[in-house]
Formats: sequence, C-alpha cells, structure tokens
Amino acid sequence: MPPQVWVRNPEILMRAMAVGREMGYSRFLVQATGVTQKAVLLDSGFQEVDRLHVLFRRSTLNLPKVPESAGSARLQRASSLHVDEVIRVDNACFEPFWAMNPLALSEAVAATPRSRFRVMTVGDSDVLAGYAIFGLGGGEGYLQRIAVDPHWQGRGFATRLIVDGLRWAKRWRTRRVGVNTQQRNENALRLYLKLGFELQAEGISIFEPAPS
Ligand SMILES: CC(C)(COP(=O)(O)OP(=O)(O)OC[C@H]1O[C@@H](n2cnc3c(N)ncnc32)[C@H](O)[C@@H]1OP(=O)(O)O)[C@@H](O)C(=O)NCCC(=O)NCCS
Repeated sequence: MPPQVWVRNPEILMRAMAVGREMGYSRFLVQATGVTQKAVLLDSGFQEVDRLHVLFRRSTLNLPKVPESAGSARLQRASSLHVDEVIRVDNACFEPFWAMNPLALSEAVAATPRSRFRVMTVGDSDVLAGYAIFGLGGGEGYLQRIAVDPHWQGRGFATRLIVDGLRWAKRWRTRRVGVNTQQRNENALRLYLKLGFELQAEGISIFEPAPS
C-alpha cells in the first residue's frame, strides 16, 4: 500500500492487517522513509525492527570486471526445479527474519513487470552456489535478491551474478539500478560500493506492529 494512503489515515493499515489475518497471514511489515512516515507508524503502535541502506548505480557506468575465479561457474535461467536449492542457499545466507520460503520467492520474482532470475552452479553439479533476482519497472532496474552459498563466497560469484543483471538492465535502457541492504550487512555494502552503486542519503526503516 503506498505511504500516501496510510500517512493520511493510518487506520487503513489496521484494516489491511485484519484482512491479511483472515487470509492466514500472521506477520505484517511496513516500509517507511522520512520522518513523517516514521512518526505516523510510531504513533500508530508500530515499532522499528530493521534499517536498510538504499543504493543506486547509474546505467551509464561501464560494467564492472568479473574476477577470473568466477569464470568457470555456470549461469542459467532458474526454473521450478531449482526452487528447493534456492531456498536452501537463501536460508544458509539470511537470518530467519529475512529468509525466504517458496511463496516469498515467487513474490520476489513477480514483484516487478519484468524479472531476471539466474542460478549459478559449479562444474557438472546441480548443487547451487548462488542465485540472483533482478527486476525492471518504471525505467529502473532493481536487484531484488542475491545470495552466494557461504561455501562458495569470496570467489567473485556475486560479482558475476550482478554484472549479468546489470547488463540485462542496460539492454532494457534503464536509467539506474537500485538495491536495498540491511545497514549491518557490511559485506553486501562493500560489494555494492565496489561495483559502482552509490549510497543514498535517505534509507528505509522497517516497522511491524508492537506487541500489545
Ligand atoms: C554479499 C554476498 C552476496 C557476496 O558474495 P561473494 O560471491 O562472496 O562476493 P564476491 O566474491 O563477488 O565479492 C566482491 C566484493 O564484495 C565485498 N565482499 C564480499 N564478501 C566479503 C567479505 N566476507 N568480507 C569483506 N568484503 C566482502 C568485497 O568488496 C569483495 O571484493 P574483493 O574480493 O575484491 O575484496 C555473500 O556474502 C552473501 O550471499 N551474503 C549473504 C546474503 C546477502 O547478504 N545478500 C545481499 C543482501 S542485500
């Protein structure tokens, strides 16, 4: 729901959550930027549970170089056959609060009008080393999700996955590509800055209803 709607009338959030509960959802998260949105949520009984950096990379920049160590990995289009492996890698990489289940995965892929979902394997194995989901909408690209299995980190695999998505976003003539990352995720921040993403002044706060 767009913030303009609930900033004027936060009661709408309560109604939306009531409908969600009827549909079987048990957890509700709301994104906020700027002091007004945050103040409205705090006044309405929400609490901040996380903070995200927002970064953008201009598409006029040249594509970053991929390290040779990532050259032998295989990139392929993700299919339904990969879902279990993607969830395994995802759960090995993210804390439970942010880890995805198959429903969240399909929502991430469907979140934008166009998306590119690629998985990475090594040698002849079907075991996934990593995956990335990029999206496209409103003339901008988004890196929705990326994870590399801890066993395969530090070899340039994330760089290769991101360069693939940046090339795709360039082909679609996007102005820029955005990504969000938890403020405490220093490895991801270093990766994005190295690849030419620029940190934006304003981040995103994540809120959920405070326990009553
Ligand atoms: C972040 C992540 C995707 C990086 O994957 P990776 O394949 O190891 O990344 P690369 O090998 O391509 O690293 C490229 C750059 O990222 C930074 N980086 C990545 N991992 C790092 C680490 N453990 N320590 C310090 N810098 C790191 C470095 O700048 C590195 O460049 P360098 O090797 O020249 O120092 C991986 O650590 C991961 O899956 N983490 C958990 C999930 C996650 O945080 N996803 C992003 C959420 S927004």
